[in-house]
Amino acid sequence: MPVTRWTHCVLIIIILQLCGNTGGETLKAQDAGYPPKSGPKLVCYFTPTQRFPADRVPSEACSHLIYAFGSLSTSASEPNITAPSQGQRSAWTILTALRRENPSLKVLLSLQQGFPDVVGADLLKMQKFAVNAVNYLRKYGFDGVDMDWEFPSPSERDAYSKFLAIMRTTIDKEANATGKAALLLSLALPNSHAIAERSYDIPAIASSVDFATAMTYDFHVYSKGDNVTGYNSPLFTPGGDYPFYSASAMVLYYIKRGMPAHMLMMGIPTYGRSWTLARPDYHFLGAPALGKGPPSPVTHLKGVYTYPDACAALKKGAVSVPSTSLGAVYLYQGTTWVAYDDSNTVTAKCKWVMKEQVGGVGVWAMHLDDLNNECGQGSLPLIQIMNKIVLGGRPREGRPPLRGHSTDL
Ligand SMILES: *[C@@H]1O[C@H](CO)[C@@H](O)[C@H](O)[C@H]1NC(C)=O
Ligand SMILES: *[C@@H]1O[C@H](CO)[C@@H](O)[C@H](O)[C@H]1NC(C)=O
Ligand SMILES: *[C@@H]1O[C@H](CO)[C@@H](O)[C@H](O)[C@H]1NC(C)=O
Repeated sequence: MPVTRWTHCVLIIIILQLCGNTGGETLKAQDAGYPPKSGPKLVCYFTPTQRFPADRVPSEACSHLIYAFGSLSTSASEPNITAPSQGQRSAWTILTALRRENPSLKVLLSLQQGFPDVVGADLLKMQKFAVNAVNYLRKYGFDGVDMDWEFPSPSERDAYSKFLAIMRTTIDKEANATGKAALLLSLALPNSHAIAERSYDIPAIASSVDFATAMTYDFHVYSKGDNVTGYNSPLFTPGGDYPFYSASAMVLYYIKRGMPAHMLMMGIPTYGRSWTLARPDYHFLGAPALGKGPPSPVTHLKGVYTYPDACAALKKGAVSVPSTSLGAVYLYQGTTWVAYDDSNTVTAKCKWVMKEQVGGVGVWAMHLDDLNNECGQGSLPLIQIMNKIVLGGRPREGRPPLRGHSTDL
């Protein structure tokens, strides 16, 4: 496994150097690994909530289900993944059992907090963590682990690469020793070009992980320094905006930096970001804003509209303004302005991913899509679109239909 990874990586680097610039057309020729043997991926992050408990997760919607989040712990005698709460444990039992209905489903645990105490410590500590983490993942029946450190500092960049390499070696050794399929190793990549440049050694990371998800959302969120309306996650960058503030721009950037396209997922949000407009009649893109939007109609989140929130606003007369050329949409009503994703933008993103032979999509998050058919487009309509375009509906063939449709409620 490590040998083929390295060979592949070296090839990619040579080809990149020969080709120079990575235009859209040359991408396909560069990625000898496409299509991946396991096919394109639909990676769904999920956190159980009151609205969306673990027992409502359908087994066939995604190829990969990532539980968010666990953490690294150094409080016990040996570094380890933090012991689960009762609630986490029962959610993990439910999620890992979905493989009985869908044997090709992979269930991973994502880790977010606690990296600084392990990464960058001595090699022995990282090795101990890796061994304990592998045992932990096996104990709770996971198929792999997703690293979601937000974010290493520039001085932690090389240690993070080293840490991932140790995880890879430890995972491969265990698989070799036990004869089990190797655990999967994935990571989340920042939406920020500046952070990626300073804190991520993409070729080194690519040689260790199975796949990576670019968190291509939150490009514009209200703050004192960003106090005009803007898209949360446009497919293409609007003219005049910072060039890397779009999903396609960051995906192409990561590929150019050395992430093989077939290993990369475009992040797609099932939520939008809301603003309070300075004036109700100034509701254009780039309009002055006074703050985040007020609590959303369904989930009552400040500054955030999940897909059911957007649907509820539209039902109550909000005006939606789509941009087909940018793969983006916003809505406004009174002084509330929301940049969100709908069936059209998700379709455009998935089609772009397939056309560019990118490895798939990663959705943040399953629990923010419309479970209860409040939009009138069926259960989990945005994930259904991703499933249809990216997975081609294949995982569902010969299997029972998706659970959780409105008729089940
Ligand atoms: C790591 O954590 C798991 C789960 O809490 C536990 O079973 C295991 O014994 C721990 N490993 C070590 C070396 O303490
Ligand atoms: C796997 O195990 C065999 C036999 O113990 C050994 O020869 C081989 O080097 C191991 N490979 C890896 C990648 O650890
Ligand atoms: C936005 O920020 C700029 C710079 O701080 C400030 O001059 C302007 O008044 C702010 N606009 C609004 C609507 O608050």
